Amino acid sequence: MDKFVLHGGKPLHGTIPISGAKNSTLALMPAALLASGVFRLRNTPALRDVNTMSSLLKTMGVRARLADHVLTLDTSGVDRQEAPYEHVKKMRASIYVLGPLLARHGRAKVSLPGGCAWGPRPVNLHIEGMRKLGAAIELKRGYIHAKADRLKGARISFDVSSVGATGNVMMAAVLARGTSVIENAAIEPEITQLAQFLQAMGARIDGVGTNRLEIEGVDGLHPADVDTIPDRIEAGTFLVAGAITGGTVTVAGANPEHLAAVLARLEDAGCTLTVEPGRITLAAPAKLKPVDVTASIYPGFPTDMQAQWIALMSVAAGTSVVTDTIYFDRFKHVPELMRLGADVEVKENAAVVRGVPNLTGATVMSTDLRASASLILAGLIAEGETEVLRVYHIDRGYEAIERKLQALGADIQRVSHQEF
Ligand code: EPZ
Repeated sequence: MDKFVLHGGKPLHGTIPISGAKNSTLALMPAALLASGVFRLRNTPALRDVNTMSSLLKTMGVRARLADHVLTLDTSGVDRQEAPYEHVKKMRASIYVLGPLLARHGRAKVSLPGGCAWGPRPVNLHIEGMRKLGAAIELKRGYIHAKADRLKGARISFDVSSVGATGNVMMAAVLARGTSVIENAAIEPEITQLAQFLQAMGARIDGVGTNRLEIEGVDGLHPADVDTIPDRIEAGTFLVAGAITGGTVTVAGANPEHLAAVLARLEDAGCTLTVEPGRITLAAPAKLKPVDVTASIYPGFPTDMQAQWIALMSVAAGTSVVTDTIYFDRFKHVPELMRLGADVEVKENAAVVRGVPNLTGATVMSTDLRASASLILAGLIAEGETEVLRVYHIDRGYEAIERKLQALGADIQRVSHQEF
């Protein structure tokens, strides 16, 4: 098992290329199950989660190969419509195979995802959506058993705006008989890319980019290629790395539009931003100002940047409040940040962060992907040595993060070690 060893205190300087978006790739890959043939997903990030999805698709008969960030998927040999617990337990996004399998093959057996590091993350909206499209669904022995000769168009209005449920139901509806309407659909950039990819495969979808999607089902789809959008959360994380270390960092290949809420808060904290097409440069202030944020659905401040923001605010000149309206108890990183000397108090779904002059190095434990990013950010400025354990969490969503940080001048090493 690997850990990161950091020595803090070096301002970061330089330019970082941003990888393709994990949360787009994890939706685009199952979409390929909707047609037979060869797909090319360009700008695919080399991540553990992408490998997990590849191995899941391979169990169904898909041939998958990633070379030079081009993922080639051949779905002409799909012969199995099952997502076993062994795969799904590693990654909740595996649930995305439910809609495409049901729509294309009329049946699917998909393991329920089980627990998550933080809070209940139910999939009731996915299941209700499939039922509304006419699927017979039974939950048995930890599995979703779904059947439908052919799905039928329906009106689905989500109580909660859900990225996953919007993507799954949209992928099911594109092959249904008749027209479906999804109301209160998610409009995250990853969902817009998924809709555009389905359109490139021959799907008929109106309202892309809005929270009301109208989908006219078709009888068949064909393969397509796609250029995966840049990862807005990776870009946001590196900009915060520049801000917290007092440096100047450029993220190349990022889409500023997808990061508008994060950029606005960074400016409020005193950072100077230069935004050009495909490039964002951040110059840190001498002292960060405390800035409250409320994590919400897109285009609001992303919950996947909440932990990184708490790390940043832990050394701001004053007190800030960081609230999460998507996940009420996504604060597992807080006790670990406090081991580094941060002063944070969590009350329900908000963290009160009292800025301290500096952090001091210690051994800390990653609990999930974004929590581990916040610990690395804190380790970049903590005096002395910081060890971040269980970095397999970070490899799920950041491609070679230590190499990218080293290129900016960070003192970070990946070390394999035995955990007792
Ligand atoms: C996606 O998860 C992302 N994952 C998450 O990123 C991200 O945190 C989340 O959207 C919110 O932006 C991927 O895209 C693979 P949701 P998802 O359905 O689809 C509730 C990361 O760090 N809900 O939009 O699972 C749910 O509990 C990951 O990269 C239901 O109640 O999120 C939550 O409170 C972590 N019932 C809210 O909706 C359902 O059936 C939003 O969840 C589904 C969701």
